[in-house]
Amino acid sequence: MNRQLSRSDHLIQQFDTILRTLVPHAAQPSRPSPSAGVQDGEFDEAERAHAEGLMRINHTGEVCAQALYQGQGLTAKLADTRSQMEQAAQEEIDHLAWCDARLEELGGRTSLLNPLFYGASFGLGAVAGAVGDRVSLGFVAATEEQVGKHLEEHLEALPSGDRRSRAVLEKMHEDEAHHERWALEAGGAEFPAPVKAGMRLVSKLMTKSVYKL
Ligand SMILES: [Fe+2]
Ligand SMILES: [Fe+2]
Repeated sequence: MNRQLSRSDHLIQQFDTILRTLVPHAAQPSRPSPSAGVQDGEFDEAERAHAEGLMRINHTGEVCAQALYQGQGLTAKLADTRSQMEQAAQEEIDHLAWCDARLEELGGRTSLLNPLFYGASFGLGAVAGAVGDRVSLGFVAATEEQVGKHLEEHLEALPSGDRRSRAVLEKMHEDEAHHERWALEAGGAEFPAPVKAGMRLVSKLMTKSVYKL
């Protein structure tokens, strides 16, 4: 059946995405977790707690990615690139679900601050989308660049025995680099250094608070 979605259909869809993003274990991945079949090495309680904090940050990062894509989807034109953006958003759902599952394995929980970060990222995405596609795609590229750096730091910081988290983060790193390239090739503007510095500052605030909360 092919019919135009009404305004209320769209609202229900939006609400469904919000719930799937914010309710733990509600997101369904389209690809199996890269940790499937990977055996952990040894790690002690302090290392487990550290890995939990890092994976909570990565999970919140993916909550922000969902919100960003959703906010942009609402306001951006993106006539030629909408399907690519939807594919990227689907891959972010995989990341979200993989991090969520790994957090649970580590005996951890997702961040209590997620609704706050979801709202802020949704707003930023919607504003960027409304300004225009070049800015909107540039925002995706700049965000993915930052997430990539972030994942590299976390790959360094993970306890050596935590091989299952490592497998997840390595695959995410590969996907995010692909999203960044796509957004630039699709015409995304290269953001000026001060804007990127501002984004780094906001992400520092996020990581500091979410590590524990
Ligand atoms: Fe992601
Ligand atoms: Fe991404």
